[in-house]
Amino acid sequence: MEIKSTTSFMNPYTVEYELAEGVMKEPKNHLVRNASAMKGHYTNEDALAKLIKEQNDPLHYEVFEGDIPQEYGHLIYGISKLQPGVVGDECFMTKGHYHTIIETGEIYLCLRGAGYMLMKTQDGQVRAEKMTRGSMVYVPPYWAHRSVNIGDVPLATFYVYPGDAGHNYGDIEKEGFIKRIFRRNGEVAIE
Ligand code: F6R
Ligand code: ZN
Repeated sequence: MEIKSTTSFMNPYTVEYELAEGVMKEPKNHLVRNASAMKGHYTNEDALAKLIKEQNDPLHYEVFEGDIPQEYGHLIYGISKLQPGVVGDECFMTKGHYHTIIETGEIYLCLRGAGYMLMKTQDGQVRAEKMTRGSMVYVPPYWAHRSVNIGDVPLATFYVYPGDAGHNYGDIEKEGFIKRIFRRNGEVAIE
């Protein structure tokens, strides 16, 4: 067996999930982003500052991940768990990113909650795919992606993407996503 220098050898293994709750048992990595990590992303900066102050910088979203080498050939998987809520009237969302290797896609399977996968290309195309339990969204290569929670419970999604994809947040910080998702009197608006 030839083992290439690009791709570490690993033994197969199994991970257990609580599918109904959208929870991965014994994740190896746990990333936490509190509301303060979202500065610059919401339209209403004052509402975000108020939320951070009044709720003592509450949890915004978490990522639970397996310990997979960030290498060509491997597949990185995990659970993204986004809290419900609004900043002003804009629904809670993740920062969003392009993959550094932009020709890499991603699969998201919604396990719990309701939301949208908001996507955009560098030339300004925008799409929003609805996610409820059982929806799988295919994020093709070239599309930046951000999860948005439109519901009242955490939005939990299982994701998998190529190990060498990497994350480019900087371009989204500069460009934004063009469209935003709001909740007003129980109605969802994509504007
Ligand atoms: C990985 C991926 C997800 C997100 C997660 C958090 O390529 O798309 O695991 O990383 O939903 O969102 P961001 O990375 O935008 O903070
Ligand atoms: Zn991604």
